[in-house]
Amino acid sequence: MVTSMADLAIDLGALAHNYRQLRSLCAPQVKMLAVVKADAYGHGLVAAGRTLAGAGVDYLGVGSLEEGLALRQAGLALPVLLLLGILPQEAENAVAADLEIVLFRQDVAQAVAAAAHSQGKKARVHLKVDTGMGRLGLLQDEVLPFLASLKRHPQLEVMGLISHLAVAEIEDKSYTLKQLAQFTGLLAAARSQGWELPLSHIANSAATWELQEAHFGLVRPGLMLYGSAPAPHRPPPVALRPVMSFTSQVLQVKRLPPGSHISYGCTYTTTDWCRVAVVPVGYANGYSRLMSNRGEVLIRGRRAPIRGRVCMNLFMVDVSQIPGVKEGDRVTLLGTDGGERLSADELAGWAQTISYEIYLALGNANPRRYLGA
Ligand SMILES: Cc1ncc(COP(=O)(O)O)c(C=O)c1O
Repeated sequence: MVTSMADLAIDLGALAHNYRQLRSLCAPQVKMLAVVKADAYGHGLVAAGRTLAGAGVDYLGVGSLEEGLALRQAGLALPVLLLLGILPQEAENAVAADLEIVLFRQDVAQAVAAAAHSQGKKARVHLKVDTGMGRLGLLQDEVLPFLASLKRHPQLEVMGLISHLAVAEIEDKSYTLKQLAQFTGLLAAARSQGWELPLSHIANSAATWELQEAHFGLVRPGLMLYGSAPAPHRPPPVALRPVMSFTSQVLQVKRLPPGSHISYGCTYTTTDWCRVAVVPVGYANGYSRLMSNRGEVLIRGRRAPIRGRVCMNLFMVDVSQIPGVKEGDRVTLLGTDGGERLSADELAGWAQTISYEIYLALGNANPRRYLGA
């Protein structure tokens, strides 16, 4: 029985399973950093971090100093990388918590070195290189001079180069291979100047799955850990299990005569007698208003289309074709009911976005209920 109006469940067993599946795609010596930034893509930073650490992951990657500190406060001692780097004023805290830092600014290098010096320790940094993502990082020509400048800071232990791939999920790998070639070239050039760079990395989920030559010393998957494929129409060779599911229950059932309007704006008008179920979920729950007149839910193992606009806390579905629907029946918005499944990719299609944003929107707007690891 469903007891709450909106129930967001996180299956930590599925998360651990997906981790093991991804590991099976990598050679034994390749380490894995699980990307748990943005509250583990909405799945819950500490719960996901603990589960992955328990399953044996080597590194966790977070988006902010606060997230790194939260992992430490939760007692997680494994290496944690601050994927966006830090601000100079965050250096003391980052170094004190032994967080590893992505680096691409001189002022940050200086601040981290000073913090490490004052704390009597070394700080691990990963030099960020922009090989074609056009986002964070040093451009090709800036890498060797930046590395040379780091010789001034013996407190910094340069672990390696880090870069990010822009289109690794598409079938045509030509752009990705260009990025890889630049990355490999830079690594070789740096090593020829005496830099050891023991841990360089560029592979997201897509490259972990499809490009072994991109694995280097460490892979950095996010999305696949949470059970989604980077290319929705090309299933990866490993069986991933969805981690997040979202259900509700029918709050009211009513029968509307032909010519009735449904929801704000009267954007849907019944053409016949229609049985409608009212669902107590809306955009306040991270369920996009773009689902209006477009999305579907599952009730009694069957699909029911959304009619009219999604409101802040409610929306309506047509259950005329589903016999016996009554108040209290489970409504599945994301997940499986009987033989039917609604994936984050399908929801993303209706909401004109990507599965990442579906997970974040639902995960951040609803209390999470964890199912055992
Ligand atoms: C720097 C970095 N590495 C790895 C990832 C993981 O990517 P994905 O979730 O596609 O596996 C991300 C995600 O955005 C990222 O920003």
